[in-house]
Amino acid sequence: MPTYDSFAGFYDLEYGHKDDDLDFYLNMADEFGSPVLEIGAGTGRVAIPLADAGHTIWGIDNSAKMLEAAEINLLRLSAQKRPNIVLSKQNMQSFSLQQDFPLCIIPFRAFLHNLTMDEQVSTLLSIHHHLRPEGILAFDLFVPLYSVISQKEWQDEIAEDEFAQPDSGVTIKTKVTHDYARQLLYISNTYFSSEKDALQKTKSEMIYRYVFRYEMEALLRLTGFDVMNVYGGFEGQEYDFSSGLMVFVARKKQLNMNE
Ligand SMILES: C[S@@+](CC[C@H](N)C(=O)[O-])C[C@H]1O[C@@H](n2cnc3c(N)ncnc32)[C@H](O)[C@@H]1O
Repeated sequence: MPTYDSFAGFYDLEYGHKDDDLDFYLNMADEFGSPVLEIGAGTGRVAIPLADAGHTIWGIDNSAKMLEAAEINLLRLSAQKRPNIVLSKQNMQSFSLQQDFPLCIIPFRAFLHNLTMDEQVSTLLSIHHHLRPEGILAFDLFVPLYSVISQKEWQDEIAEDEFAQPDSGVTIKTKVTHDYARQLLYISNTYFSSEKDALQKTKSEMIYRYVFRYEMEALLRLTGFDVMNVYGGFEGQEYDFSSGLMVFVARKKQLNMNE
């Protein structure tokens, strides 16, 4: 399974300005409290605004390079607030922290990097283990729209004016290959940047296993969560499949081994 290491140098350029989810995760933290556990914290895109608002975030990620980028981004916080973020390199399927949490968040579909049912279940059980009784798990996934997943292969190009820095000189070509049987999308990105008149090419690869709404609900029930809400957007919109987004809020129930 590829990590985000080869992607890390471009992540903030492509997604650093994404902010549609920030109020949602901030409201969750305000309502359910700190410390917040963030799975797949990446370059700190969500953790930093939460820490800036006064929350304590424990972020895990399995990419050393994404975490290095996060350490640099942390310098944006005042020296007083930097200790609000505690990062560690760990796999979401088997992490261990000496802390329990009232809230766990998994922003920007990081859960989809679990590629088998065993991996999905291991991740949810690891989270369950770290949540306090009745702790909350909140996360968002993309909806596997039939118009998209009816295709075996497709390509896309992202031009520089869609990035956080519009004059970066970088273009991204994306190729997606779909394994229908395993619900896997193989994403291959090629980054083109012209530096000193020479065209530089870098490649990165990642894999998503998409999940459907009721598949996700079943996984949550199987691993000891009650699903409280499934929204179609970050403002609490009703889920209707066409929205492109599924936002889950679940509550930990105690696992009863005698059941
Ligand atoms: C789409 S990015 C989201 C990053 C950040 N949360 C955000 O919203 O910008 C997914 C993140 O999950 C991390 N990730 C992927 N597989 C992982 C795993 N098995 N364990 C921990 N982190 C993982 C990646 O390294 C990456 O930083």
